[in-house]
Amino acid sequence: MEPVPVVLGVGGGIAAYKAAELARALMERGCTVETVMTAAAQEFVQPLTFAALTGRKVITSMFGARTADEVLASSVEHIAVAQRNRVLVVAPATANLLAGFAHGLAGDFLSTLYLAFQGRVVLCPAMNTAMWEHPATQENLATLRRRGDLIVDPEAGELACGTVGVGRLADPQRIAAFVMRALDDRRDLEGETVLVTAGPTREPLDPVRFISNRSSGKMGYAVAEAAAARGARVILISGPVTLPAPDGVTLVHVQTAREMYDAVMSHLDEATIIVKTAAVADYHLADVPPQKVKKTAMRLSLELDPTPDILAEIGRHKHDQLLVGFAAETENVTAEARRKLKSKNCDMIVGNLVSHSDGVGFESDNNEVVLVTRTGETIPLPLASKLVIAGQILDHILKLRLALHASQS
Ligand code: C5P
Repeated sequence: MEPVPVVLGVGGGIAAYKAAELARALMERGCTVETVMTAAAQEFVQPLTFAALTGRKVITSMFGARTADEVLASSVEHIAVAQRNRVLVVAPATANLLAGFAHGLAGDFLSTLYLAFQGRVVLCPAMNTAMWEHPATQENLATLRRRGDLIVDPEAGELACGTVGVGRLADPQRIAAFVMRALDDRRDLEGETVLVTAGPTREPLDPVRFISNRSSGKMGYAVAEAAAARGARVILISGPVTLPAPDGVTLVHVQTAREMYDAVMSHLDEATIIVKTAAVADYHLADVPPQKVKKTAMRLSLELDPTPDILAEIGRHKHDQLLVGFAAETENVTAEARRKLKSKNCDMIVGNLVSHSDGVGFESDNNEVVLVTRTGETIPLPLASKLVIAGQILDHILKLRLALHASQS
């Protein structure tokens, strides 16, 4: 998908600082972000924060212009901003902003922009519970919903004012995913069931220790989110990670390679596309002692047994499902990916280098990968966020399926 131009309107609530994370989360999903801040928002966060994150000038007032040329340019700036962006996201949308939008007030740049805006509007309210529940706010929201604005409801939890209730700004990652779903009118995965595995596995050594690896789960969660946005039913089988479940995805938690194997096998028949991003442990301790192993001065050896190779097992039994594996390598990525493509009977392997520390691969938000396919193609995908890479992998999966069908018929 082309970069989506988004204008982010930041209102004056304590949650204004979370709008900075939202700007990043939108950019990670391939959006360009320009920021408009209300006067009250600037009491909470400096415009510089947004300028530095987005690399763009932040609009802070209607009347910043001083010279005649500036006056001329700024008198139409709200129209220009409205015209060059596809989405207006307001976060936090305060009770005051919602009231202004509902009644068509145009007293500052953001509310004037709202009136001039003809693209998608996504409002993310955040306020104290009593203000949220007040009939005035609820009636304003009903008006805005009726007009077609999209609302990302606030979450329940502890609020800045010390009370507990509904009113906390929705999680920025959730808001960003919601914006992408609202925008992505490609429903090219509708009717598909995509089975994704993600994260590491943990193989216990005793009740308190385990063997694991550095996988964060970000790549698999990105594939799950991107597939759901394009209309797929998604089953995400995840090892232990700290990421929130993407909305609209069925999440199955597992710990060990054996549990991942069982979970995958029990959902296999439903899947039309299988993407195995998980970094599954290759070895485990077959007989885990029931008590914590005591430290001694002696050398300790562990005898490990291989875990089931889930990908290879699916490869042996698959029918017309499209099977995608990952190969995290420290050298010879393309050659290794090609070897695994054959040995595990996959349709595509996504190879990535995980040895260097320059911001790609395990734990990073970014990735740089090479796709090798059953049809003999080698497709490098240059450095991008894992969410952007996930979308590109799905594009290539669909292309590959067409090519495979064409070669069979
Ligand atoms: O052979 P290798 O482990 O490097 O292959 C990596 C690919 O195989 C990944 O897609 C991973 O999810 C999958 N795999 C698996 N079961 C294992 C080990 C790896 O499904 N036990």
